[in-house]
Amino acid sequence: MVGKLDGKVALVTGASSGIGEATALALAAEGAHVALVARRAERLKTLSKQILDNGGLAMPIIADVADEAQAHDMLLKANAEWGRVDILVNNAGVMQLGSIDGANTEEWRSMLNINLLGLMYATHAALPLMKAQGGGHIVNISSTSGREVLVNAAVYAATKFGVGAFSEALRKEVYTDKIRVTLIEPGAVATELGNKIADTGAQEWVKTWLQSKTPLASEDIAAAIVYAVTQPPHVNVNEILLRPTDQQ
Ligand SMILES: NC(=O)c1ccc[n+]([C@@H]2O[C@H](COP(=O)([O-])OP(=O)(O)OC[C@H]3O[C@@H](n4cnc5c(N)ncnc54)[C@H](OP(=O)(O)O)[C@@H]3O)[C@@H](O)[C@H]2O)c1
Repeated sequence: MVGKLDGKVALVTGASSGIGEATALALAAEGAHVALVARRAERLKTLSKQILDNGGLAMPIIADVADEAQAHDMLLKANAEWGRVDILVNNAGVMQLGSIDGANTEEWRSMLNINLLGLMYATHAALPLMKAQGGGHIVNISSTSGREVLVNAAVYAATKFGVGAFSEALRKEVYTDKIRVTLIEPGAVATELGNKIADTGAQEWVKTWLQSKTPLASEDIAAAIVYAVTQPPHVNVNEILLRPTDQQ
């Protein structure tokens, strides 16, 4: 079967669950070789096997994107294995919600380090590789929280606004190198993201909010990413914002 991404190499961060896992499967189904990055080794092993069983090619890379050296190494590993990196999907992220007053500032550092700095480190490592090979595509996962700010989401939103700002400057800096940049902004997606919120009140609020609508599935976001990265070379899909139909 001919895939739209045959011969391409992709690296997906946060591939051990949710949007990243679905994206890795979707890219592999289109023929890309996929490097799967996250911290949970067992999950990556299972996903890698699933992709291999489906006739694709995948490689798990255990890395913490918040660690600059690890974020650089993951790109170098994929490049060493397959000789190029065409698509980088910066998806790894965490969400801690709660008021600014009395917040656990460790949660702020974790969100900034993973959602924003991790994405920047990976991009920094990918650019020389993409320039040397004559092009590439960087897909950054933001959120509707990168456009509108809710109470109790100050720092999560700050990281996602940051992803938007970084992506727009990146696009302007690298388009002459044939490197495309796409910002993906999902609304509510049914994943484990909200289960990891430490503030129990905020966790409950997210649960109830999700139950009040038909949320997007991770596969919906993966399909948008596949759309963006399979356009002809002259088309640069800069932004895709997707909300559930019943989200305001
Ligand atoms: N769900 C939503 O409603 C929604 C809406 C808009 C945007 N988003 C964004 O979508 C992205 C994916 O989230 P999700 O909803 O799919 O949640 P998820 O299922 O919790 O996935 C988060 C992924 O990020 C990985 N990750 C977290 N910290 C990491 C680190 N330091 N280094 C490497 N990987 C790390 C996790 O893997 P390990 O724990 O194994 O490392 C996991 O694979 C996030 O950027 C999130 O902000 C989600």
